[in-house]
This record gives sequence, C-alpha cells and structure tokens, in this order.
Amino acid sequence: MSLLRRYNLMSQTNSTELIRSQQNVAQFSNGVAKKLYKLVVISGLVLYIMYNLWPGFHCCYSFSVLTHLRPTVVGNLESSYSSGTGTNSATSISHIVFGIASTSNSWRNKRWFIESWWRPNVTRGFVFLDTFPVDLIPWPASSPPFRISENTSRYKDYDKHEMTHAIRLARIIREIINEEDQNDEDVRWYVIADDDTVIFINNLVEVLSRYDYNKYFYVGMNSECHASNYFHSFEMAFGGAGYALSYPLARALAKNLDVCIRRYPSLYGSDHIVQSCVADLGVSLTQEKGFHQIDLHSDISGLLSAHPQSPLVSLHHLKVVDPIFPSMTRNQSLNHLMKAANADESRLLQQTICYHKQNNWSFSISWGYSAQVYEAIYPPSILRLPLQTFRPWMFAKPFYILNTRIPSTKDPCQIPHVFFFYSVETITDIIGRQHLIATTYTRRRPRFLPACSSTGNHSAAHINMIRVLSPVLEMHDGVGRRRECCEVEYESRSNTTNVQIRACVEDEIIP
Ligand SMILES: *[C@@H]1O[C@H](CO)[C@@H](O)[C@H](O)[C@H]1NC(C)=O
Ligand SMILES: *[C@@H]1O[C@H](CO)[C@@H](O)[C@H](O)[C@H]1NC(C)=O
Ligand SMILES: *[C@@H]1O[C@H](CO)[C@@H](O)[C@H](O)[C@H]1NC(C)=O
Ligand SMILES: *[C@@H]1O[C@H](CO)[C@@H](O)[C@H](O)[C@H]1NC(C)=O
Ligand SMILES: *[C@@H]1O[C@H](CO)[C@@H](O)[C@H](O)[C@H]1NC(C)=O
Ligand SMILES: *[C@@H]1O[C@H](CO)[C@@H](O)[C@H](O)[C@H]1NC(C)=O
Repeated sequence: MSLLRRYNLMSQTNSTELIRSQQNVAQFSNGVAKKLYKLVVISGLVLYIMYNLWPGFHCCYSFSVLTHLRPTVVGNLESSYSSGTGTNSATSISHIVFGIASTSNSWRNKRWFIESWWRPNVTRGFVFLDTFPVDLIPWPASSPPFRISENTSRYKDYDKHEMTHAIRLARIIREIINEEDQNDEDVRWYVIADDDTVIFINNLVEVLSRYDYNKYFYVGMNSECHASNYFHSFEMAFGGAGYALSYPLARALAKNLDVCIRRYPSLYGSDHIVQSCVADLGVSLTQEKGFHQIDLHSDISGLLSAHPQSPLVSLHHLKVVDPIFPSMTRNQSLNHLMKAANADESRLLQQTICYHKQNNWSFSISWGYSAQVYEAIYPPSILRLPLQTFRPWMFAKPFYILNTRIPSTKDPCQIPHVFFFYSVETITDIIGRQHLIATTYTRRRPRFLPACSSTGNHSAAHINMIRVLSPVLEMHDGVGRRRECCEVEYESRSNTTNVQIRACVEDEIIP
C-alpha cells in the first residue's frame, strides 16, 4: 500500500516547461474540440437532410463509385478470391505479403530499417514509391523490389488530407493484391508497414498464426501516445507499427477502397482511411501489444526494459528517438539488437523478474536488451511498469495509454543500476547440442548514489556485468503464457552476477 502510494506521488511532475506546453495544448485542443463539435453537428445535419430528402443518396452512392473501377480489376479480385483458403499447414513467412509505404526521396535514408529484417527471395512484397527512383538504380538486391504507385490524380477532389501521400498509401493494399494475383500463390496475410518500420519476422509469424486467416482480422496496435489516438482513432492500427489484414478482409477492403477514399476525403492520413473502411466493413481492431508505433521522443529504454508480455513484433521511429543502446549510433544499435534477435527472437525484450533476498535486491531482465538491479524489493506488479525515460509525441495530458513509473532522481532505493545487452553466445553440452543461450549485460555508467539504507545498505555498485542463462527452447506457446521465473546466483567476490531463467513452479508467486 505505502509502496503504491509512493509511486503515485512519484508520477507527479513539476517541470514548469512541461506544464506550460500542456496548457498550450489544452487551449489548442479546446479550440479544436469546439471546431470539431461544430463540424460534427453540421455534417450530421447535412447527412440527415441528404439521407431523407434525396432518395438516391443511400442506395446509389457506393454503386456509382464502384462503376469507376476498371472491370478487369474487379474480375481479377473475384476470380482469385479463394486462393487464400488453401491448406491447413502452419502459417509461415511465405504466407505473408508485405506492402511498404515509401517515397523515392525517403527510401535512400530509410532503407536500412527495412534491410535489417528483409530476407531477399524469402520475404514477399514490394516497396511502393511515388516516382521512378532514378538515383537508386541499380536497385539493390538487399531491398524489397519496388513498384511505382498508380497515379492518384483522379481522386484530387477527395484529397483534403493533411498527409501528402494519404490516398496513394491507402491504395497500397489494392495495388499489392493486383500484383500478387499475377503469381497467384498461397497468401494468408497482407502486412502494411512504413519504410522505417523494423519487423521481427518470426514473432510476426507466431502472432499471426494465432488467428484464423480465413476470417476477418485487422491486427495491429494503436499509439503509446494518448493524443495520437485521440486525434486519429483509438480503433486504428498505426501504420508505423505495421498492421496485418487477413486474406478475406484485404480482398473486401481492396474492393471497397474507392468508395472509402471518396467517403473520407479529410482524414489525416492513409491509416485512418484504411481503419474507417475496415470499420465500415464491420471489422474492428484486434490489438497485439508487440506492434510498436513509438510515438515517443528521447530515451525509450524505459519502455523497452518493461515490454508487455507478448512477442516483440515491430519497432518504429528509431530515427526519431535516441539510439536505443548508449554509446552506439542508431544503425549500430539496431544491428546489435538483431544479434540477440537472431539467437532467440521469441525471448527478445521479454521481461523476467527475480530477487536476491539476502541483499534485498530486485533484478529485472529485458532479454537481449537490458538488466536493472534495484537495491530494494519491488514486486513484479511495480517492475512491469516502464520507467518514464521518454517524452510523449505530443504534450497533451494524459500523455500515455500506459502506466509508467517516475522515480525520484535522488532516491537510491528507486533508481536502478542499469545494464545494457553486450553479447550473446550459445552454449553446447558435451555431445555438442545447443542447450543454453548466455546473454551478458554491462553497466551503462556508475549510479553515483549511496546504497539504499532502508533495506540494509547492500550496495550493488560493484556489479559490472549480469550474465543471463536461458534455455534454447523457444518460448512460443501462444496466448495464456505466464512470465518466466529466474534465480539470481550472486557471489560477493565476483563482479559478474548470474541469472538463470527457468519456468515458474506451478503455484509460485513472485517474490
Ligand atoms: C534471388 O533469386 C534470384 C533468382 O532466383 C537470384 O538471381 C538472386 O541471386 C537471389 N538473390 C539472393 C539475395 O539470394
Ligand atoms: C498523373 O496524371 C495527371 C493527369 O493525367 C498528370 O497531369 C500528372 O502529371 C500525373 N502524375 C504523375 C506523377 O505521373
Ligand atoms: C546508417 O544510418 C544512416 C542514416 O542515419 C544511413 O544513411 C546509413 O546508410 C546507415 N548505414 C548503414 C551501414 O546501414
Ligand atoms: C531488507 O529490508 C528490510 C526493510 O525493507 C529490512 O527490515 C531487512 O532487515 C532487510 N534485510 C537485510 C538482510 O538487510
Ligand atoms: C546505512 O548507512 C547509513 C549511513 O551510512 C546509516 O545511517 C544507516 O543506519 C545504515 N542503515 C542500516 C540499516 O544499516
Ligand atoms: C570488482 O569491483 C571492485 C569495485 O569496483 C573492484 O575494486 C575490483 O577490482 C573488481 N574486481 C574485478 C575482478 O573486476
């Protein structure tokens, strides 16, 4: 109880700068809200009048729009409708087709995000560009093949979007289906992402395989930043995080896209057009917490050190936030994280918490990313909340759609010793079978604080490395999985502390 109260107190912030910008945003959003309200009332009235006084409105609106479709395309969509409903084999990477939204200008600087996970000749899909990429020819084999988006000038009367390429990007799902129909292979999912989205493919496959691709699924996640969801939609899968459309939904969406583009001429961008169209088709968002839009600024290590209990599927905006590992560039950081991902993607960023009771220490491991040591016992219900090391995308309260911790900067009991992922190796047994993965985590910098006195002055300042042993066995067993448990093997003479990850005992409560 007292612990909880302390954390409530801690989340009060007194930075005047913060408060000032919040007030500005509050005034701003007040004005916006009034305008929006007017707009809603007026457009409601207009719709009501149209609906009642103009008999053709509801019956013929979509029909007249559909006739704009080229007959060949419609035929094409229908004839291949059943190609996704093939076998019952396990979903694999070959069943997923990616549509990546980009421009010829931005591709140059962002392609390394995609190339960090794209597997040439294995992953299927295309990058959609606005113009022919003259300067980028010869097109590298490490990049996905590109397509030039169709000319959208015929929609110019419906283009009041704030985002310049909204209509072009909303149409990716349609253009990619047309492309893929030419190879007519077994497709179960279409995944739409930005050119700065990093996808963890094995985890994506694992997550999607939990859903029936013959049904209607729109799988993704909204933003961490409350204002982003408020201004767009809480029901929207943010495209920077990437989202997946099951085969029948993608087909239905592609068929109706022209109707939707005309129906929603003034939404901010393509993700909201797609979401609105999906909603009109009667499908709502299935949230998967491993998709990350990262509408955040500065240091996101707090978030990555307390990932939800769900496979890490994507990261976005890595060019906007600080490098995720201290003293590395952004590219080095991403390559470094991929080393851990290559060893055991299923465990990446999964949090494990354990205790060294003799010293009153708590350990929180984010596998392949970080380790934190607290000189006090905090239960998992507290440690699972991210430390608020980051700032929101927009300063409008409430900032986040997640609970965070803001420790007092002077309290050595609340401030952890922080270690970051350093190395990974696979350990084999005497007959050469891989049986353990060892990851190490090294201290970022000295903590510059005395020991926590209320828990007995047990300093952890001499620990300079944490070594975590985890079973090689992948964790994939779908939903309903419990967080793993661990043991701390501390020796006062050694500056390296070992942590052994293991399954929890049936009725084990931590701590
Ligand atoms: C991909 O396949 C093509 C044709 O089969 C081949 O020429 C090319 O070398 C392959 N690329 C890679 C990176 O394996
Ligand atoms: C698209 O088509 C319009 C009208 O046909 C043309 O004026 C415009 O230049 C085209 N845009 C591109 C990028 O080709
Ligand atoms: C590193 O990142 C920069 C942009 O931040 C990019 O231009 C460059 O190509 C990247 N280098 C590698 C090796 O990926
Ligand atoms: C651990 O901390 C508690 C206070 O939270 C204290 O009463 C206890 O003596 C400490 N144990 C050790 C071994 O220091
Ligand atoms: C911890 O150390 C401080 C100062 O070094 C001392 O005042 C305090 O009594 C110590 N606490 C315990 C529980 O030993
Ligand atoms: C362990 O840390 C202590 C205190 O920082 C240091 O004096 C000692 O040399 C270190 N030992 C080793 C083996 O690194």
